[in-house]
Amino acid sequence: MPDVVDDRLRRRVLWAMPSGLYVVGSAAGGRVNLMTANLAFQVAVEPKLVGVAVDAASVTHELVAAGGGFSLSLLAREDRAVVRRFVKPVSEDEIERRGGGAVVSMAGEAVEVHATGAPVLTRAAAWIDCSLRHRLLLGSHELFVGEVVAVGGPAGDLPPLLRMEDTRMSYGG
Ligand SMILES: Cc1cc2nc3c(=O)[nH]c(=O)nc-3n(C[C@H](O)[C@H](O)[C@H](O)COP(=O)(O)O)c2cc1C
Repeated sequence: MPDVVDDRLRRRVLWAMPSGLYVVGSAAGGRVNLMTANLAFQVAVEPKLVGVAVDAASVTHELVAAGGGFSLSLLAREDRAVVRRFVKPVSEDEIERRGGGAVVSMAGEAVEVHATGAPVLTRAAAWIDCSLRHRLLLGSHELFVGEVVAVGGPAGDLPPLLRMEDTRMSYGG
């Protein structure tokens, strides 16, 4: 094995690592955001901890750090067009609120709020709400680790869920 790293090969191999594709919800001080993310996975079994690596310069980073929690919307495979809507921050004029201030839709997608206050896509096949427990700044990204405090999903089987390989998108590398 040569010890010289081929940048292009490294990128292709890192891109090829199989992963799911989620929408991360965050909220703090009346602000909300939804962000497409594939760097998300369960990181401990007891307690039930889920980690997501979030760009340190992103809106989501600011809101998770300030709000102390995040949500993950798990999408059905046929909903792959939805993740394209959340690859840039949701602007205030794309957010619809009810009279009392509760957020009802973001970028044209209906949302709801559960335990942490972070928005969840109403069309999610399942969702996870996490309370922030650990933070690890890693460079470009910070790993936010949250304890699962609420989940939602169907009583029966989940549909096949969206993965990176179902799209032509890539991230990381
Ligand atoms: C397929 C795909 C996967 C992504 N995964 C992540 C991720 O895991 N973590 C992350 O911080 N940004 C990820 N991004 C980038 C964000 O979606 C995008 O830059 C984002 O809107 C910026 O975050 P903000 O809206 O919170 O500012 C991904 C983008 C794409 C297209």
